Amino acid sequence: MSNSQALAILSLAALLGAVGPALAAEEPVKPYVHSNDNAEARPFAGDHMLKAFHGREGIDRVVDGLVDGAVADPRITDIFKGQDLERLRRTLKEQFCYILNGGCDYTGRDMKTSHADLGIQQSDFNALVEDLQRSMDHEGVPFRDQNRLLAKLAPMEHHVVVR
Ligand code: HEM
Repeated sequence: MSNSQALAILSLAALLGAVGPALAAEEPVKPYVHSNDNAEARPFAGDHMLKAFHGREGIDRVVDGLVDGAVADPRITDIFKGQDLERLRRTLKEQFCYILNGGCDYTGRDMKTSHADLGIQQSDFNALVEDLQRSMDHEGVPFRDQNRLLAKLAPMEHHVVVR
C-alpha cells in the first residue's frame, strides 16, 4: 500500500468516526410518508417571523431551549424519559423553521402519530407552552410574534392531547 492510499484510508476512518455517532444517535421509526403537511400548519408569508426569531440559528436556540426546559420541567419530565431527543430536536427545528418561513422542509411524522403513546393531558400541553414562552423570551422574540407562533400551534392540541 502506498503512503497516499494509507492516508486515504486513515482519513476515511476519521470521517466515519466523526459522522458515525451523529447518525447512530437517532433511533429508527416505522416508515411514513414525508410531507410538509405533517407539520400541520401553513407557513407565515414573508420574512417578518424569521427575523423576529433571529433567523435559523435563533429558531434552533429556541427549540433547544424548549427541549432543555421541558426535560427539566418537573411537571412533564417523565413524558420525555427514554424518548429519542435527538430526533425530537431535529424534527422540531424543521417544523418551526417551516412554519416561520425559514426555508426548511419538515421531514417528521404528523402530530397524532408522534404523540400517540405518550398519554399527554391538557395540563402537560399548557406546561410545554410555558416552557416555549420562556425559551422565546430568553431569545428576545417580541411578545406579539411569540403569540403568532403559538396561534399556529394551538390547533395541534387536538392531535397531541389524549381525551
Ligand atoms: C403543539 C405542540 C407540539 C408540537 C408542535 C410538537 C412537535 C413534536 C414533533 C415534531 C415531534 C417529533 C416527530 C417525529 O419524531 O417524527 C414530537 C415528538 C414528541 N413530543 Fe411533541 N409536540 C407538541 C406537544 C408536545 C407535548 C405537550 C409534549 C409533552 C408534554 C410532547 C412530547 C413529545 C415527546 C416525548 C416526543 C417524542 C416521541 C417519540 O420519540 O416517539 N409534545 N413532538
